[in-house]
Amino acid sequence: MNPFVFHNPTKLIFGKEQLQKLPKELANYGKKVLLVYGGGSIKRNGLYDELMNLLNAHDFEVVEMAGVEPNPRLSTAKRGADLCKQQDIDVILAAGGGSVIDCTKLIASAAKYDGDPWDFVTGKARPQEALPFGTILTLTATSSEMNAGSVITNEETQEKYGWGGPFNYPKFSILDPTYTLTVPLDQTVYGIVDTMSHIFEQYFHTSDNTPFQDQMCEAALRSVMVTGEQLVKDPDNMELRETMMLSGVWGLNGFLSMGTRGDWGTHDIEHAVSAVYDIPHAGGLAILFPHWMKQTYSRNPKRYVQLAVNVFGVDPSGKTDEEIAMEGIGRLSAYWKTIGAPVSLADYDIDDSKLELIAKKAAINGPLGGYAQLSQEEVLTLLKASL
Ligand code: NZQ
Ligand code: ZN
Repeated sequence: MNPFVFHNPTKLIFGKEQLQKLPKELANYGKKVLLVYGGGSIKRNGLYDELMNLLNAHDFEVVEMAGVEPNPRLSTAKRGADLCKQQDIDVILAAGGGSVIDCTKLIASAAKYDGDPWDFVTGKARPQEALPFGTILTLTATSSEMNAGSVITNEETQEKYGWGGPFNYPKFSILDPTYTLTVPLDQTVYGIVDTMSHIFEQYFHTSDNTPFQDQMCEAALRSVMVTGEQLVKDPDNMELRETMMLSGVWGLNGFLSMGTRGDWGTHDIEHAVSAVYDIPHAGGLAILFPHWMKQTYSRNPKRYVQLAVNVFGVDPSGKTDEEIAMEGIGRLSAYWKTIGAPVSLADYDIDDSKLELIAKKAAINGPLGGYAQLSQEEVLTLLKASL
């Protein structure tokens, strides 16, 4: 196990009708609120009206910032930061999925910065202060509601990177599964794939003596797979939505990776794919991850055997390590196909014309992945296998 310090300051408020706690939480940070949301799903599912009634009844002054796009853009974050400066905002409230929350994180830091917010994303500068913000999650997938990550696309340069830091933790996040009932089937599937992928990224690490962490990851994967399969058949089921919502938070709030450093290479490659083609993040992951596994199997066959047996239920008797591992990867592909995830880049009309560009973008800082360390050439091989 690696030495570690764990500090996750986000207050999690989970369950039905917990929105009522919003005014009290928000009042800790001021009265003038920037409400950040996406393309209108919160208006269609009634959350917007509930929110506004609640905020008006408690005398908050609300400035609205709509239109955060999936794969949120730098220009949108700049627009939000300008609004904060012009309107002298005290606190930001993000209502939506990972994109809205990620964008809010950059707005919060950029609101206190005179330079180009892209500096934070590239690591050229680090925020010294930020506006406080809270979130109301409407889509289970990223765990952005309880982590310090933010993924932003620079649409001009076609770059998409994750960045983080202590100011990126929400002060509080309200998670009522009721608001996820309207998430369409494709986004529900992406949420399942993203949550599983986050666990895989953490499961593939190089630290020794991690039986607790590994078994937590394995149990989480088994639970998500069972819940996910039921949920796609029964998307109006509140109990399943509730279980998925908790799974999504745990997928990437840091609890599963205490004392380990995961891989994250597949995420870097996917971010490069969606930087160029603007596809849904987890759609890309569903295509890439099984190929990443096949390509990296030989670096630690025992780990793949463990995954195949403990998560995918492969019977190891009479089989070689490679046969067991490949059967496990095959079961993962089959599972994702069963729930309706895409299987190849062609599903998004992506051909081989820009694969070299994508590989170059993915490996911009050298070999990628804390576990597998793929070179640019190996990324290209993976992308070609995913066509
Ligand atoms: O924009 P609106 O109208 O709200 O619609 C959204 C959007 O079209 C819709 N939606 C959200 N809640 C809904 C709903 N539709 C109906 N009912 C609801 N209750 O769903 C669509 C997708 O939303 P989005 O926020 O883009 O999805 P997600 O949460 O999957 O976020 C994806 C982004 O997060 C990044 C991805 O790269 C991508 O940019 N990630 C962020 C991470 C983090 N911060 O830690 C980690 C992840 O690995 C990921 O990279
Ligand atoms: Zn992800």
